Amino acid sequence: MFRAEIAGTGSYLPEKILTNFDLEKQLDTSDEWIRTRTGIVERRIAGKEESSSVLAAHAARKALESAKIKAEELDIIILCTSTPDVLFPSTACFVQKEIGATHSAAFDISAVCSGFVYGLSIAEQYIKSGRYRHVLVIGSEVNSRIVDWTDRSTCILFGDGAGAVVMTRKETTEPCGLLSSHIYSDGNLSSLIEVPKAIGRAEVSTENGNPEKFCIKMSGNATFKVAVKRMTEVCLEALEYNGLCREDVDLVVPHQANKRIIDAVIKRLQIPFEKVFINIHKYGNTSAASIPIAIDEAKRAGRIQPGCRMLIMVVGAGLTWGAAVIRW
Ligand code: UT7
Repeated sequence: MFRAEIAGTGSYLPEKILTNFDLEKQLDTSDEWIRTRTGIVERRIAGKEESSSVLAAHAARKALESAKIKAEELDIIILCTSTPDVLFPSTACFVQKEIGATHSAAFDISAVCSGFVYGLSIAEQYIKSGRYRHVLVIGSEVNSRIVDWTDRSTCILFGDGAGAVVMTRKETTEPCGLLSSHIYSDGNLSSLIEVPKAIGRAEVSTENGNPEKFCIKMSGNATFKVAVKRMTEVCLEALEYNGLCREDVDLVVPHQANKRIIDAVIKRLQIPFEKVFINIHKYGNTSAASIPIAIDEAKRAGRIQPGCRMLIMVVGAGLTWGAAVIRW
């Protein structure tokens, strides 16, 4: 029986730090408001030369190094991003070239913040079916390029970064690796969070180049409520699917969008808060990069030991949401 194990993790954060105090100087906001409403203290901002592919390649190299796998051994690179370098070719192809993954296929997927869980789910199918051996899944975002820096209700939330995992096939009857993934979408809720810049729609000819439309618009409060409901539901589904109860969970790695959302879900799941990994205070919401960055930090901090049962959960634009259970 083929299992999909996480053989290595890596992450990369740009050097530049933008604090809440920096934002106070340019917006009608305060450190106190941002901290208490979101849990965010600071976020990273990509440098001029740093695009999603650049951040992704850094994270990918670290993941390969920790997996002790050469780039040439990769079968597929799945890059989860909603801030691609260009419309095409895929940003994954730039990463492939950069890391020298000469034998792999490479493609992007777009599920916004849920991208990484979607990416894991795709990798799981390729590996468990026996088709491929090594799959690199990366979440990489330069959100700072698509936020409206005059909109205090959204720009305070987002940051840039990348995280990656190498997934590897293992033949065993032991339940290990990615035990299951559960992904959902509801296009009826597409207007809750969007970048309403037309590319493939007719209005592109009349509104071409309107910079105002090229940024994130979000109904924060409505998104908050749906996020709590959907993530709670999908986590319960993931646990039940694996015959696990809440006591069996050793670590929860949630999407880091808002500390209050995480708290509300964890409270509903009745999992002790000590079992939750939080790094939102340092990076804000890095969208598809959020979970892989957190997994890598948790791993390097010694919070993930062999046998650790980890629950990951996410919600993002689309609306999309999902969860997965991993046994290390
Ligand atoms: O990755 C997944 C997608 N994203 C999310 O999951 C984000 C979901 N939503 C949220 O995180 C929260 O809804 C926000 C942090 C965006 C907003 O928090 P909230 O508690 O839902 O606040 P609100 O939108 O209800 O606004 C409350 C007040 C408003 O003022 P009034 O109308 O009550 O006078 C806002 O204008 O807070 C005001 N406000 C701010 N004040 C200071 C909004 N943003 C700010 C700000 N600083 N940055």
